[in-house]
Amino acid sequence: MEERSVIGRALPLAGHTGGRSAMTCIYRCGNACAHEAPNTSDNPYFGDILGRALSRRSFLKLGAAAAVVLYAGARPAEARRGGRRSGLTFEPVPPNSLDDVVVPDGYDYEVVVRWGDPILPGAPEFDFENQTAEAQSKQFGYNCDYVAFFPLRGSGRALLVVNHEYTNTELMFRGFNPATGTSPEDPERIRVELMAHGISVVEVRGRRRGGYEMVRSRRYNRRITAMTPMRLTGPAAGHEWLRTEADPGGRTVLGCLNNCAGGLTPWGTYLSGEENFNQYFVNAGAVEDPAKRASYERYGFGETLPDFGYRGWERVEERFDLAREPNEGFRFGYVVEVDPFDPESVPRKHTALGRVKHEGAETTLSRDGRAVSYMGDDERFEYVYKFVSSRRMARGNSRRAREHNLTLLEEGTLYVARFSGDSPQQEIDGSGELPSDGAFDGTGEWVPLVSGEESFVPGMSAAEVLINTRLAADRVGATKMDRPEDIERNPVNGRVYAALTNNTRRGAAGNPGPDEANPRTNNKHGHVLEISEEGDDPAATRFRWRVFLLCGDPDDPSTYFAGYDKDQVSPISSPDNLAFDRRGNLWIATDSGGALGQNDGFFAVPVEGPERGYLRQFLTVPVGAEACGPRITPDQRTIFCAVQHPGEVDGASPDNPASRWPDGGQPRPSVVSVFKTGRGERRIGS
Ligand code: FEO
Ligand code: CA
Ligand code: CA
Repeated sequence: MEERSVIGRALPLAGHTGGRSAMTCIYRCGNACAHEAPNTSDNPYFGDILGRALSRRSFLKLGAAAAVVLYAGARPAEARRGGRRSGLTFEPVPPNSLDDVVVPDGYDYEVVVRWGDPILPGAPEFDFENQTAEAQSKQFGYNCDYVAFFPLRGSGRALLVVNHEYTNTELMFRGFNPATGTSPEDPERIRVELMAHGISVVEVRGRRRGGYEMVRSRRYNRRITAMTPMRLTGPAAGHEWLRTEADPGGRTVLGCLNNCAGGLTPWGTYLSGEENFNQYFVNAGAVEDPAKRASYERYGFGETLPDFGYRGWERVEERFDLAREPNEGFRFGYVVEVDPFDPESVPRKHTALGRVKHEGAETTLSRDGRAVSYMGDDERFEYVYKFVSSRRMARGNSRRAREHNLTLLEEGTLYVARFSGDSPQQEIDGSGELPSDGAFDGTGEWVPLVSGEESFVPGMSAAEVLINTRLAADRVGATKMDRPEDIERNPVNGRVYAALTNNTRRGAAGNPGPDEANPRTNNKHGHVLEISEEGDDPAATRFRWRVFLLCGDPDDPSTYFAGYDKDQVSPISSPDNLAFDRRGNLWIATDSGGALGQNDGFFAVPVEGPERGYLRQFLTVPVGAEACGPRITPDQRTIFCAVQHPGEVDGASPDNPASRWPDGGQPRPSVVSVFKTGRGERRIGS
């Protein structure tokens, strides 16, 4: 630890200029941003919809009633004075380019678990120069992303469950040739990468000084990889398009891929979103069935090789070659549910929640006790989705209740969001300037795509909708958004917050222009929407919404911080993962790749009272890294941050690392716990 603090805190970021490194684009998203967005559907923007579907009269009727009920927290500043304060008192961390995790004065952090740390019995210590698949299958995976925390009652211990989104072959191995997808260690190198993907379950215990440390638990610790058998559930399970030579029943898949964010369920399980799964496959152009080929195109599969980030996995696992196994690509892109308390349980891919590039699936309960999962499809001009289960959650800890709850995500209604603005389209000029009514806001509806076995999309069966969800959503006029990431209900005020991370193609030639829910052209720094479901019921089919933040440098006139004084707030770019503390303050993790010339980090912002919009930076991550999580423990004494892809800077390699975090050697993606030091109030943020 001493070594880390000396090296880490002293090393400035050398030669790194703003903007996402090409390396991150290649390995994380298969260079999605270098291509035209795959949504070329002519589904209209809501400027058109407003005129077509919503008369001004009907809007005003809904709007006036709902505005009073739902936006009590959004009245003018004077009216809000005297409202409850946020309890956030930490001194913001200034923007910086240090090669360390930087926390506010009075706080400290410790690494809980690093890439390669042994977590299963018999796992060897990490050896960068001699990594093997056998070792990696028992060690913590690469590029940690979503973090969940499940307390083990009465023990001071907990289970930390973490996604491993992707591998960066150039930083994990010496001598990899990205043009040929080969390295001197092949094929073992490929097997290591398969094992470095997936999910880890790690037991942790509280430290006396604060934060948590890992326990090598024989009872709970688990690795799920790109080779772990998983069961498909729901209406599309067993569908012809999901059957392969190795799995003629179409119900068992090996592994999950590119698991980004996720969700916690009220019944105590872990959800994980398969995001940019297209980039692992080759030869989509060789698939004979034109419907299947068109579907692959809509999800961004390359004709032959991926244009970038070619890993050569099909040389070890033939199924990644679509010329040989044309259906394998339809078996990824789902929300995966894991029971973290049962290491023998088979992870389940729930087709009822649709197949898209799933960011996450934060889950809550409707007023009548049904499961509601909010989901973003993270690509430019893609959609926001919601799933509502048919059945209610059973209360209690009986085995019967648990078995029932584990089936909730197998049947329900899948919706896609349509947003309508309330201001004239000519006032939405793309500059970020507020329209004359003073807000980017409006109404919206959840348009059903499928309910159980019933499809609402003409010409598509329920199973087809759930496999080709993007194509189904195109047909019902869903609103094209600026890369939907985490969408999560605030348990304190009941509103739902949606991170739209950025979209530099908004308003570019041949692409959709600004609309009131995505109001900036060339939206480099993203925004956050605040959604109020009708009747404060997550199962509602109508909602109101408003823009809560337009991110960027507060000196940039296109930014907006819920009306708060911009001189007081921290610069922020590319909101990605969200969380809430006990008072309902919103915590935001960013994934900007240095778009403002500063490292990524965590931010906290009150959503109510006189400090609504007062956004402050809480933490920054090392050079080249993205801040993931955030996860706040129920006692609010610890916040976990997954430091993903430290040192992922163009030109970096094991011979020339851009970061030496956390230990002074090769950079290692790691989860850290952050806590307060000294006496007094120990709650994070206070
Ligand atoms: Fe993996 Fe949507 O970020
Ligand atoms: Ca408006
Ligand atoms: Ca993310």
